[in-house]
Parts: sequence; C-alpha cells; structure tokens
Amino acid sequence: MNPLSEIRARFSTVLSGMVDDPVNLLSMIRPAGDSKFGDYQANCAMPLGKQFGKPPREIATELCEGVQVTDLCQKIEIAGPGFINLTIDNDWLKCSLTTALKDDRLGVTKVSEPKTFVIDYSSPNVAKPMHVGHVRSTFIGDSISKVLRFVGHTAISDNHLGDWGTQFGMIIYGYKHFLNESAYQAAPVAELGRLYKYVRKLMDYHAAVKRLPELETMQDELKSKQAVLESTESQGDKKADKQLKKQLRQLKSKIADQAESLSELKAQIAEVTNDAVLAKDASEHPNVNQNAQLETAALHEGDATNQGLWEEFLPLCREDMQKIYDRLDIKFDYELGESFYHNELANVVSDLTEKGFTKESEGAVCVFLDNHNAPMIIQKRDGAFLYSTTDLATIKYRMEKWNADACLYVVDHRQSEHFEKLFDVARLWGFDEVELAHVAFGTVMGPDGKPYKTRSGDTVGLSGLLDEAESRALEIATNQNSDLTEDRHREIANVIGIGGLKYADLSHNRASDYEFNYEKMLALRGNTATYLQYSYARVQGILRRTEADVESIRQNPGDFIFENDVERQLGLKLIRFGEALDEVLVEYKPNVLCNYLFELSQLFAQFFDQCSVKDANSEDLKKSRLQLCDLTARTIRGGLELLGIGVLDKM
Ligand code: ARG
Repeated sequence: MNPLSEIRARFSTVLSGMVDDPVNLLSMIRPAGDSKFGDYQANCAMPLGKQFGKPPREIATELCEGVQVTDLCQKIEIAGPGFINLTIDNDWLKCSLTTALKDDRLGVTKVSEPKTFVIDYSSPNVAKPMHVGHVRSTFIGDSISKVLRFVGHTAISDNHLGDWGTQFGMIIYGYKHFLNESAYQAAPVAELGRLYKYVRKLMDYHAAVKRLPELETMQDELKSKQAVLESTESQGDKKADKQLKKQLRQLKSKIADQAESLSELKAQIAEVTNDAVLAKDASEHPNVNQNAQLETAALHEGDATNQGLWEEFLPLCREDMQKIYDRLDIKFDYELGESFYHNELANVVSDLTEKGFTKESEGAVCVFLDNHNAPMIIQKRDGAFLYSTTDLATIKYRMEKWNADACLYVVDHRQSEHFEKLFDVARLWGFDEVELAHVAFGTVMGPDGKPYKTRSGDTVGLSGLLDEAESRALEIATNQNSDLTEDRHREIANVIGIGGLKYADLSHNRASDYEFNYEKMLALRGNTATYLQYSYARVQGILRRTEADVESIRQNPGDFIFENDVERQLGLKLIRFGEALDEVLVEYKPNVLCNYLFELSQLFAQFFDQCSVKDANSEDLKKSRLQLCDLTARTIRGGLELLGIGVLDKM
C-alpha cells in the first residue's frame, strides 16, 4: 500500500462517522506542495467547516484526534485556517522500503476490486499510410493498458482497424483505372498508397473546381460590403463609430480567412492542371467522387470483384502495418476491424428502431439526442451504414463478449463530438452501466506551430519518422561509446530512438498539442527518456563498480539509514511509485508517470552528488545506499516498462 492510499484509508474511518460519502473529502488529501510543511496535506476541514457551520480549525482538531496514524505519521499538525499537515514516520517508511526491495512488484499491491477494461487504440485506417496521430494513440493506449494490468485489472486491447471504409472504394477505383502493374508487383502496399493519394487528388480537384465560383462570388460580396462600410461616415457619434470599426475588423478577418481557403483551392486545382497526366485523368474521370463511393457501396453489398480485391489488399496492408507494430514492440489482444461488424449493422438499426429510439429525417435513420442539435445518423438515405453504426455494433459486441466495466477510446480530440453522441446513444440503448470514456489527445505540431507535415506536405508517415529517430539515436550512441560493436550500437539506437519517441509523446499531457522536436526528444538533460535511461545506466555503473551482489542484498536487506536528507526524500519518492500509477488511472494520463520518473531521477542525481556509496563511512550505510540505488533502478526500469520503453545497462 502506498502512503497516500494508506493515509486516505485511515481518514476514511473518521470521515465516515461524520458524513455519508467521504470520497470527495478523501480526494482533498494530497501530497504537500512544499516539503517544509510535511509530506502530505489534508484540506478537508474547510468544506466540512462550512457544512457544519463550525470553524475549520475546530474540525481539523477533531479529525487529528480521531484519525489513527501513530504508526504511519511521525507528525500531524494543524496550520493556518485548518490545513492538516502530515509527515510520514521514518520507521514506517524504512519498513515499506524493505518490503519494496524484496518484492518483484516493488511493493505495489494489486487493486482489491479488479475490473475489465477494453482499450480501443491505434485503430488506423488500413491502406492509408499511418501517421503521427496514430502513433500517439498507439503509445498512450499501450501504456494505459500496461498500467491497468500491472495494478491488477483485466485490460483487453483491441485495434479497431478502419478496414471497411470509403478509402477502399477509392483504392478499388484507382486499381481499376490507374494501376501501375509492375509497381504493384514490386511493392504492392506502396502502390496502393499511391493510388489512394492519386484518387484523392482527383476528387479534391473536382470538388475545388465546383466550389471555386461560389467562393469567389462570396469574396466579391464581402469586398463590396467592405467598400460600403469604409465609405460610411459615423457623423461624430462615438458609439456608432466604435461599432463601425468593429464591423470592419470582423469583415476583414473573414475576408482574410476566405482568401486563404481560396488560395488553397486554387493550389489544388493548379496541381492537377499543371500536370499533363493528372489533367487528362481529371477530365476523363469527372465523376470520380460518386464512382468511388459506388465502389465502396458495391464492396459492402458483396460484389464479387470488389470483395476479391479487398481480400487481396487487406492482408498486404496488415502485414505492412505489422512491421511498424513490431518495430514499436506493440501487441494487441484483438484486432477486430470495422469489417468484422459489417453483418451486424442492419440489426443495430432495426433494434434501435424497434425500441423507438430512431426517427426518419430526410430519408436517413437518425437518433435525436437532447443535448445535441444535430442527431446521430445511423443509416444514410441510400441505405449505407456509417462509422457510428459500426461503433454501436462494437459496443454491443464488447459488452456481450467481455462484459466490460469500461471501454476506453484513445482517439484524436477532433472526434469528441462523435464519441459524445455515441456514448449517449449507447446509454439510451441500454448500455448504461459501463464507463465509456473518450481518452482524447491533441495534435502533434511541427516547428512552424502547424500540424506536423513533411516537406511534400503529407502528414508525416510513420516509418520515415522511426528511421529518423533511430538514426539520430545511433549517432548519439556512436559518439558516446566508440568502442562498442556495430550490433550493440544498433540495439542502443533502437532503445534510445524508439524510447525517445514514445516518451516525447507520453510525457506531454495528452489533452494538449505538443511540438515534435528530434533534438529535445533525444536530449540527455531534461524530461526525456534518454535522461531516465541514463539514470538507470548510472546506477548499474555504481553496482558494477562496487561489485554489489544485488540478489543477496534483496534477500537479506539491511536497515535503511537516512543520514542525509536527500536519502529520506529519495526513499519517500520510491515508495510513492504506486501512488503515481493510481494517479495515471484517474484521468488516464501517462504523463503523470513520466513526471514521477523524472522527479525520481532528479532526486537520484542529487543523491548521487551528495552521498557516496563506495566511500560511505560504514558498511551499514553503504548497504543502505546500495539498496536505494537498486530500488531506484528497478523503479525506473519498471516505470519505463509500463510506458513501453526499454533500458540499457550501459550507455
Ligand atoms: N479509424 C479511425 C481513424 O483513423 C479511428 C477509430 C477509433 N476507434 C473507434 N472505435 N472509433 O480516425
């Protein structure tokens, strides 16, 4: 048990005698912001004071007298208006450290009520190249699954592949009309990717040509409005003058926005018209948009040719994707893509309709929701089912097959509205006991502050990104240790390069966008994987130099000795590993674990500077320090493992 949950458990006993449900109050017991005041702080006397109309200090005194912490805390004090400051008892701390040292799980106990989680992550659209957004989902989802499992839950990972969507119609159309046979023979997936992009280009071209005149007219209208406003005189009326200026400002910004869209459209058009082959294909395929959709529809209706092509393409694409997952060391329990649910979609619609939850609107079958203006469409007018229909079928399947307590969806924040509606419809449908959570994440930005793109303008392809991360790490590894073998350098490059990439992603609060930067990602200083890996290797160096027999130390530990304050601080931090894992799962945020490991490594660096292991002034102190070293290394290794990142004994 970690100190925070132990303290909360003790307070729970007293608080239960005062209020019906102490959960909220217990969450007000937190690590102290400033170690001057102790290790933990309980702020629950304030709201209780309000509730009972008593001075909070009086409540705080009652709490301090009632709570049984003599074995756990060496000090419990009231400060200010009624804060309770708690300092962990050194004997309790040392005893916990000994338990952790002997334990493979580092003293982290398993949850008393294990739950079943389904985690939907990675989930790329097959046949389109995977990009940085998918990698973020992959890393976050993998790490959350690992933490859940470690603390004792059942975590079922499911890669919900987009293997049935409109991109297949586009590729099939491309295959039938624009295939380069020899390229397909040589590198099929690359050729399919090219076909996808080619058809996309033609589609965008036609859409742009159609939209251009409309946008130009709108732009002209806005400009004449601007001219009118500019010639209007406010006749000295200050208020009117202000209003006029405001209108003009708004208008100008609208004009500027539109000008940007216009130039984008023009660029899309020029890309095609400036290329003879593209231009010819564009004019010969004026209905590419509708026709690609028809190919998708034909596939979904079981058309033999399209079905055959899909069956040919899918394994190729999956094999290609598997290479990426292998490089990243990512495994899934299930990979049930959208196609898996195809036969269930009609049932979803009929079931919801029978239960009276659907309404027809302009020929489409919709579910209207109280808190959303637009309904969720589950079947289009032409009979086609949608992404939402598949997701509903998926929830039903997951509930029936695994009886999940929670389903987590690690998906880009741009899909928030989809998930809000999906969860509402699912609850309406009867799945109201399961926790449904959209674990959303922000965009990966380039150095220009815009979504990360390569020079060719594509969102960065994944394999290129991995190559670059590894080759840069290889350079660092070679510079640091020129005497290692080539194979060893490659291994180091993989652990550092891929590890750095994962950590860069995971260490940022998932809710925010973050800027992708190779240098920062692989820096030896700062909150990076490299820094943590380096701290780990540093401990291994100490253990080697002192010729410590860690196995025997773990089996027959000596007393922990806190000679220097940093030894106590490091010890306390080590014992708080489980606390960090609990905190990760509150909002499904792996960056909490990254921060913990970073702070641990920083404390270790202080310890390393201030406390010599080799020249400790007694054998007992030396042993205690070796124990702290060993626990630090194992905690860093264990923590990084839960982030999907490896370590090296030497760097
Ligand atoms: N394939 C989708 C995309 O790439 C993500 C799917 C997420 N999972 C889900 N159950 N909707 O945008």
